Amino acid sequence: MRPRPCDGGRSSATTFEKETTVEQNIDQLRASALQELETAATPEAVQEVNTKYLGRKGVMTQVLRAVSQLPADERPAAGRRANEIKQEIAAAVQAAAERLAAGAGPVEGIDVSLPGRKSAPGPLHPLTQITQRICDIFSRMGYEVVEGPEVESDYYNFEALNIPKDHPARDMQDTFYVSEDIVLRTHTSPTQPRVMEKRQPPVRIIAPGKVYRCDSDITHTPMFHQVEGLLVDEGVSFSHLKGTLTAFVHQMFDSETRVRFRPSFFPFTEPSAEVDILCVICRGQGCRVCKQTGWLEILGSGMVHPAVLENVGYDTSRYTGFAFGMGVERITMLKYGVDDIRKYFENDLRFLRQF
Ligand code: PHE
Repeated sequence: MRPRPCDGGRSSATTFEKETTVEQNIDQLRASALQELETAATPEAVQEVNTKYLGRKGVMTQVLRAVSQLPADERPAAGRRANEIKQEIAAAVQAAAERLAAGAGPVEGIDVSLPGRKSAPGPLHPLTQITQRICDIFSRMGYEVVEGPEVESDYYNFEALNIPKDHPARDMQDTFYVSEDIVLRTHTSPTQPRVMEKRQPPVRIIAPGKVYRCDSDITHTPMFHQVEGLLVDEGVSFSHLKGTLTAFVHQMFDSETRVRFRPSFFPFTEPSAEVDILCVICRGQGCRVCKQTGWLEILGSGMVHPAVLENVGYDTSRYTGFAFGMGVERITMLKYGVDDIRKYFENDLRFLRQF
C-alpha cells in the first residue's frame, strides 16, 4: 500500500500501514462488542459476548498478542488503548447483565433507565362538560340522547318545522346555504321531525350538537352548540313542560334559582315560551350581564305545533308534546361567568385550564 498524500508527515509507509491496521481493528472490535451487548436479550447471550471478546482464547487476547509484535516505540500507546477497550467492554458486559437482571429487554436505541415523560391529559372543554351535564340530567328523567346531521336539508331545518320558504320567520336565523336545498343547520330542531318520522309515540329524546348562523360578535359565533329536547305522548300539557324545565334549571344551577316563562313565538311551537332564570350574577338586582333586567334568557320552548306533528303523520287528536332548545355557550357562560363567547374557541390554554 502506498502512503496517502496527506499522511501527516509520517516517516514510512510500513509504520503507517501497521499502525492503522491495529487501531482500526481495535476500534471496530470495540464497536461490535458494544453493539452485541446492547442487543443481547438474555444473560446467556451476554455471557457469550463476554467469552468471545474477553475469554482466555478471546479476541482481546489476540489483539494484545498483536500489540506485542509492534515495534517497541509504538507498543506502549497501542497497548494502553487495547487495555482501555478491554476495560470498557468488561464494564459494558456488567451493565448488560444488570439491565437484564432488572427485567429490561434489549436497548434498541431507547434508554429504558430514563424516568418516563409525564403527559398532561387536558380536561374536557367547558362546552363538552356542560353538554354532558345537560344530557345527564335529562337521561335521568328518561330521555334518550340522539344526534342529527350538521349539514341538513332545507326540508328538515325549515319546512317540516312549519317554516315555509317565504315565511318571514326565516329572517330570524341567518342561514348558511350549501346549495338551494341544503343548509348548515341553524338549530337542533330538525332532529325533532327526523326522530318522529321513524318512531311512534311515546317519544322522549334529547339531541345535542353544533349549529351554524352567519353572525359574529361578543355574544355570537358562526358555530355554536344547542341541546334540543322533545317529548310527545298522550295527554302532555304545558304544565309538564313547566315542571320539566324547572326541574332541569334547579339541577343545572341550584334549587334556589327562580324560573320565569315568558310568552314568545316560534313557528314550530304553539304556545311558545322563552325561559328566563333570575340573574345568577346579581340575583335580580340588575347588572351588566342581565342588562339591568334581573333576568337571563336560557332557552326557547313550547308545545309542539300540530302542523309539525301532522308533517310526520302523527294523530294530533291523540298526541301532544313539548319541545325546547337551549344554547350551551350561554348556559356555560352563566355557570362559569365567562364574559366573551369567543373565548370558547380561541384555544387559549390559560382560559381552558380553569375548567
Ligand atoms: N330552535 C329554537 C332556536 O334555535 C329553540 C326552540 C327549540 C324553541 C324547540 C322551541 C322549541 O331558537
